[in-house]
Amino acid sequence: MTTEHPTADIVVVGSINADLTVTVARHPAPGETLLGGGGGITAGGKGANQAVAAALQGASVAMVAAVGKDPYAEPATEHLRSSGVNMSSVAEVDETTGLAVITVSEDGENNIVVVPGANATVDAAYVESRADVIAGAGLVLLQGEIPADGFAAAVRLATGRVVVNLAPVIEVDRASLLKADPIMANEHEAGLILEQLGAGIPSEEPTDLAQALLDAGFPSVVLTLGGAGALVADASGVTPIATPSVSSVDSTGAGDAFAGAFVARLVAGDDLVPAAEFAARVGAFSVTGHGAQASYPGPDDALPACE
Ligand code: RIB
Repeated sequence: MTTEHPTADIVVVGSINADLTVTVARHPAPGETLLGGGGGITAGGKGANQAVAAALQGASVAMVAAVGKDPYAEPATEHLRSSGVNMSSVAEVDETTGLAVITVSEDGENNIVVVPGANATVDAAYVESRADVIAGAGLVLLQGEIPADGFAAAVRLATGRVVVNLAPVIEVDRASLLKADPIMANEHEAGLILEQLGAGIPSEEPTDLAQALLDAGFPSVVLTLGGAGALVADASGVTPIATPSVSSVDSTGAGDAFAGAFVARLVAGDDLVPAAEFAARVGAFSVTGHGAQASYPGPDDALPACE
């Protein structure tokens, strides 16, 4: 296929952020002021994180996204460029680059507030202007950091597999959302997705949540459970996925590392379960380093294994 914007095995239609990360002994209570450390800007955004994680595992990846014409664009795209992600469908627009303000506590847990900035311009009109790239992809990967109409346009244009990690959970077109195969979510997001679909939340039990997502109409589900691993669910049943036990310093972007590595293995031919088993090891590796993309393993890094 000859296209103006070259296509790739995986096209991520999603966000690029500059992450402003502050370290704190513990997260502040409402109304409280704490002293922290850090304050550096690193590359982030759920879309970019997932694109980088997939590219580092050898997948050919292109991004449909937008950044500002400001000083944050350069650090925000550093790893996209160095990991070989095709950037020809990343627009420079008259908005500020997306910004995420992240606090990381001593136990490695994070809180994140995102200012969309340029990501808000990845709407239906912009996504449609990249129709050839999206239609040419074997797999289109989406998150919840772009406008809902851009999300729906990307699903409509996709001719290959659609994988959705609806983080954060935004209100999207129901039929578009149900094209996700799989839908990837953590337990909190799974509850919000079920609510959005008007389906009941059966219980807090992960197996029940995964089954409820299947019952709501998704062909397959990956429910991520942090340090407890994940569940893969489809018509053949629900399979627990173990995760290696590691010492966490920063969990920022760990779910994105999982998602990117997971789709890299899917396009390489793996089924859902082996792809998720590999992704769990990549996610575990990522929490042992600081930041999002800077903590992701490349093909030569030794991944932790389950005991
Ligand atoms: O998932 C982690 C990411 O969420 C951060 O990189 C931040 O940019 C926000 O999008």
